Amino acid sequence: MKRNILIVCYSYSGKTRKIAEMIQKQTGGRLNRIYPRQPYPADFERHLVQVKEEIRTGEKPSLLPVNENADSYDIIFAGSPNWCGTIAPPLASWLNENDLTGKLLLPFFSHCGGAEKELEQAVRDLCPTASVGNSLYVLGDGGRNLQNIIQTWLKQEIRQSKRKS
Ligand SMILES: Cc1cc2nc3c(=O)[nH]c(=O)nc-3n(C[C@H](O)[C@H](O)[C@H](O)COP(=O)(O)O)c2cc1C
Repeated sequence: MKRNILIVCYSYSGKTRKIAEMIQKQTGGRLNRIYPRQPYPADFERHLVQVKEEIRTGEKPSLLPVNENADSYDIIFAGSPNWCGTIAPPLASWLNENDLTGKLLLPFFSHCGGAEKELEQAVRDLCPTASVGNSLYVLGDGGRNLQNIIQTWLKQEIRQSKRKS
């Protein structure tokens, strides 16, 4: 892939990060992890209550500064775990803060059984002027199949984007 590629990823327990790293390996893109300024509570119940509240109110947590600005990239991979049937609020913050007009946006998600289309819809809603491709949904970190899963997805999405351009 010759075009400029940025991989943005929020990962709480490391699975989405593994997927992001495999995408980086296969595309040669630049990987930027995002972090909320205020870490989520370590206690799961409190964590869940906070996440549900952020999703309910649409509140977007403030992020630590990231190195890369989306402006200089043509293709953006954006990854998040499934949190309560949608994308994690830190990724929502990043998507909300960046103008992705005209860019190819390829979402990828890690989940533990909930490969719900609402996640892709959340990305589309936040980035109405981007060209959003078909999302990749990975159970956990994909295990030993991760390389093949990503290879197949990339081939399909890049072929499709070339047809459109
Ligand atoms: C607060 C919270 C909510 C979650 N909600 C869902 C869910 O609704 N559906 C699902 O399939 N997985 C859900 N999960 C599980 C994660 O999506 C899954 O463990 C994922 O692989 C974690 O990715 P990460 O290691 O990059 O954080 C939830 C996890 C957390 C912490």
